[in-house]
This record gives sequence, structure tokens and C-alpha cells, in this order.
Amino acid sequence: MADESPLIRSLRAAVAAAPGDVPLRLHFAELLLSERRNDEAVAEAAVALQHAPGDADARALMMRAMGMPPTEPPRPAPAAEPPRPAPAPAVEPGPAPAPASSEQVPASAEGAPEPAGNDHGSFDWAAAEQQVQDLVGPRFLEEPQAVGADGPVGDAAAWDVDAPGAVRLADVGGMEEVKDRLEAAFLAPMRNPELRKLYGKSLRGGLLLYGPPGCGKTFIARAVAGELGANFLTVSLSDVLDMWIGASEKNIHDIFETARRQAPCVVFLDELDALGAKRSRTHSSGLRNVVNQLLTELDGIASGAGNEGVFVLAATNVPWDVDIALRRPGRLDRTLLVLPPDATAREAILRYHLRERPIEAVDLGKLVKATEDFSGADLAHVCESAAEVALLDSARTGSVRLITTKDLLGAAKQIKPSTEPWFAAARNVAMFANEGGLYDDLLAHLKRKRKL
Ligand SMILES: Nc1ncnc2c1ncn2[C@@H]1O[C@H](COP(=O)(O)OP(=O)(O)OP(=O)(O)O)[C@@H](O)[C@H]1O
Ligand SMILES: [Mg+2]
Repeated sequence: MADESPLIRSLRAAVAAAPGDVPLRLHFAELLLSERRNDEAVAEAAVALQHAPGDADARALMMRAMGMPPTEPPRPAPAAEPPRPAPAPAVEPGPAPAPASSEQVPASAEGAPEPAGNDHGSFDWAAAEQQVQDLVGPRFLEEPQAVGADGPVGDAAAWDVDAPGAVRLADVGGMEEVKDRLEAAFLAPMRNPELRKLYGKSLRGGLLLYGPPGCGKTFIARAVAGELGANFLTVSLSDVLDMWIGASEKNIHDIFETARRQAPCVVFLDELDALGAKRSRTHSSGLRNVVNQLLTELDGIASGAGNEGVFVLAATNVPWDVDIALRRPGRLDRTLLVLPPDATAREAILRYHLRERPIEAVDLGKLVKATEDFSGADLAHVCESAAEVALLDSARTGSVRLITTKDLLGAAKQIKPSTEPWFAAARNVAMFANEGGLYDDLLAHLKRKRKL
């Protein structure tokens, strides 16, 4: 540019000499922006993002250069997050601080508004996507029920309901086997006190959901509560332990007291392994006391007295780390394997995550085929990455384009299903430590998949 200011000229030279220097490039882009040379600023920000993917400053600058409002309106969560499964009437766990009953964010990537390692914190996706909303053509290649058209699933609308306690089993896409088992082992007897009486104690024990991370255990537990119209008290055990050192036993007791007062009530013990880690291994006596208290509570429920209408559901990724005493008859003695989403479930999950994104003629059938073994969290990540590619492309070329099947398939190729390492570990346990047939379901699945 002939009439370029000396400052811009020398900065341009400096950037050319040090192409990987992101702050320098951003400084340069900032200057271009101040001279209303937005297209050039966008291009520089795009290069900066190539060097430092996810860099918050680069993203913010790109947004400004593209004329998008920087951070407003501050939506509570990025559009990509599944329905915050609204708990049924919230139950406060006694005097314990409320976080115990909130989302189970820690430890695993689950529930976090963004898949792990994908820091989009300061980037306003909602605003970016709004910019291109009106360009939207047909969103899906219409053959919507192409995959396993059984049941009321795959219906994106079902996911949008915000009413409290609205997550029902019908919102859990696919996974018919899991739903059937839940119905038989938990829901039917619970809905029907007569049945409960008839079978007496044999139905008292709790149900332990286990399986690879991010595949819907927590989600399913909430759906169960929704199904029962029961109060739902979530206890994230890693939170309990973090927060309640010293007072943990009392608080465990308080949780169950609260549940008894609020009956019918499902107590959901999430991340059970945080606490169950074999008692011999838990040197801290504090922890042992917590386990003992929990055993007492579970036995109280098993014995019935004063515990009518209190039900226990638990979840873990590592059932083999759960204290065996917790799994004795009358306690958490029944298990339910929650596998990676099947085709129908994947379609439902993908639809959900794409529902507010600017997409064009997306061939869900293909995408579903390409994402076997992906967890729910992995699928969210695929949608996120594809959106990012399309957005960067738009920034680079200066003309906005929609997210295509190709972007999504490309993203799926880049992402390795996070369930693989889990199956590698689980395989050994199922083969060599399947005492009492604890892992028969898992063995059957591995055989079906020819992974044994
Ligand atoms: N069958 C399904 N139908 C609809 N959504 C699903 C299904 N399975 C998983 N999801 C979605 O995937 C996400 C991850 O599920 P969830 O958090 O329940 O997994 P998790 O098994 O509890 O994981 P973690 O072991 O990390 O706690 C959820 O946001 C949920 O909405
Ligand atoms: Mg969970």
C-alpha cells in the first residue's frame, strides 16, 4: 500500500520476519483495525489463530474485525451444551453447600460447557452464528429417520424443552437395551408399590450404572428421576470429599435424612469410585468412615424401616475401583452397563449439538456411520471443531460459509473416540476379574464387538 503509515510498514516487516510471534501479529492486526482495514486485520487474526489455536485475544480481535459484538449478549452457556438436565424439584443436601447437587463437572470432561482442551471461553459463538443464521438453506438432507427409526427418538424438538425436571427416558436417544433394563429393574417396581411389596427386599438394593466416560450415565440418571417424578438429589462424591473433609460422615447421613424427608426421592451417587476406592487403599481414616457411613445408609434402605420411597442410583467409570462392600446384596448390587451411544443415539446427540449452528445439507447418516464408538462428549467435540473450521475459513476468505458434511466428517476423522482406553482397561477386568459374573454384560459386548 502506497499511503501506508511508517508504523504499519515496519510492523508488517517485523511480522514477516517473525511469523510465529502471535502478540506481535495481534498488535499489527490491532493497528490495521484502528485504520478500519478490517479485512486485513481478519486475515492477520486468522494466521495468529493458526499459530495459537484457541488464543483468546486472537479470537476477540477476529470477532471485532468481522464486526461482531465482542462478548455480548453473554449467553449462559455456548449453544452446544445439551439440555442442562434440569433436576426435578431441587433438593438441598442438608446443610451442605449447594454445589454438591449441581452439575458434575470435575474430574472428567463431562458436563463441562466445552469439551476438554477446547477453550472457547471468550469466543462468542452465539453471536458468530447469529451472523450467518439467515443464510441457512436446508439444514439436513431430509431423510431424518434413516437410522434405527424405532421409538420417539431422534426428534430434536424433544431436546429443547426447558421445563424443570423435563428430561425423560424418551430424551435419551437410542440405547433401547439400557432403557428396557432400567424399566424392569428400577422403574416398574418403583412406580408400583404393590410390586415392591410383592418382591420385598429383593428390590431394595440400588442400581450401579457403569461404562466409559461421557456416554450418558449422569444424563440417564436424571432421566430416571424425571420418569419417576421423584425428587432427585445428586451427590458428586468427589465434591463431597473435597468439601467436607472432617464432616463427611455427618453429611452423608444428612443427605439420606433429606432424601427421607423428601421421599419419593432418588439419591444419585455420582463418581462413586471417588469414595469407593478399595477400602484397603484408602489410608485416610476419614475416607474409611465415609464409606462405612454410606454402607450404614444403604443397609438402612435395604432394611426398609423409615426408608420407604428412597432409591439409590450410582454411577462410575471404574466399577472395579468401587469398594466391594458397597456392591454386596441389598446395597448397590445390580449393575447396568451404559455403552457408547448406538446409531440412533448418535443421531439424536448430533442433531442436538447442531440444532443452533449454521449448517447446510448435513448428511447425518454418513456422520453417524463415521462416529462409531464416539461418546456423547466426543460428538459434541466433533460439532464444535467443524464449526471452528468453517468459521476460520470464512474469516480467511472473507466470505461467510455454512458448516458442511465435509467439515463434520473431517472433524470426526481427527478425533479419536475417547472410549478406547476405557475398553482396553475394561477388557482385562472382564477377562480376569469377572468374579460372580459382575461384568457379564461387558464380556458379552466385547464378544459382540470381537474385542476379546
Ligand atoms: N443416549 C443419549 N441420548 C442423548 N444424549 C446423550 C446420550 N448419551 C449421552 N448423551 C449426552 O452426552 C453427554 C455426556 O453424557 P453424561 O455426562 O451423562 O456422561 P457420563 O457417562 O455421566 O460421563 P462421565 O463418566 O464423564 O461422568 C451429555 O451431555 C448427554 O446429553
Ligand atoms: Mg457423569
